[in-house]
Amino acid sequence: MGGNRLFGLTNSGVDYSRAVPLFDDSQHQIYWVGTHTGGEEIECNSYLVVDGGEGYLLEPGGYDRYVPTLQKVNQVISAMAITHLLFSHQDPDICASLPHWVRTNNRMKVVLPAQWTRFMPHYMNYDMTQLMASKLAYVPVPDEGLTLNLKSGGQLQCITAPFLHSPGNMAVFDTVSGFLFSGDIGAALYKDGKPRLVIDDWQEHVAAMQGFHQRYMSSSKAVAGFARKLHGFTIQAMLPQHGSVFRGEEVSRFLHWLERLTVGADYLYADIR
Ligand SMILES: [Fe+2]
Ligand SMILES: [Fe+2]
Repeated sequence: MGGNRLFGLTNSGVDYSRAVPLFDDSQHQIYWVGTHTGGEEIECNSYLVVDGGEGYLLEPGGYDRYVPTLQKVNQVISAMAITHLLFSHQDPDICASLPHWVRTNNRMKVVLPAQWTRFMPHYMNYDMTQLMASKLAYVPVPDEGLTLNLKSGGQLQCITAPFLHSPGNMAVFDTVSGFLFSGDIGAALYKDGKPRLVIDDWQEHVAAMQGFHQRYMSSSKAVAGFARKLHGFTIQAMLPQHGSVFRGEEVSRFLHWLERLTVGADYLYADIR
């Protein structure tokens, strides 16, 4: 996998104030453009895919994360070169920056699970009607998924992962890099608040993931259904919206761990069969 810079990354080598290159070939680049503010709120990973000069911003982030994420995007491309915003689900830590992004660039396509398009105007502090009459457009992703074709000939494949945790939820597979952007699936919350873009210690990482997955993922059946959907994909890395990126065999290690964990309704109501 040429240009895969993620595999050479160490946590001590990451400058979180800048866009972090994760994958780089002539037509196709991927950057981490997230934020770590050190506050009480959950820290977020945002990702920028640049393909043939066009930008795809995944998991844009919360309302106050617009400026730091925009600064990182600007280190790579102009915000006007972003053609698509992709939201794995409807949560504020992903979507609340929407009014800023569409005010900056009103020609973007907003790609998100179909269940949430009618809710997105509630993030706006101004009327979207005019925007929708111009070039801004929703691309609702149906349950069966949707493919975005890239200039390089690659694809971003939106694979729905309902109820992990949101009822309308998707992961995005990039066929060029083999990266799977997994939203909240694989999220980790370290108690010390220190950012870790890659995993140093697997047991420590499991401890940082367990509580979140038990409480936020909806059911073990939803996990099994998603794991079945992933059969046949060759995944080089899995990039969640919180915590660390899974590289190489860490991906299957994570999926095996999650499939064995009792989560959501099955965890909370373990006494009900
Ligand atoms: Fe979420
Ligand atoms: Fe999240």
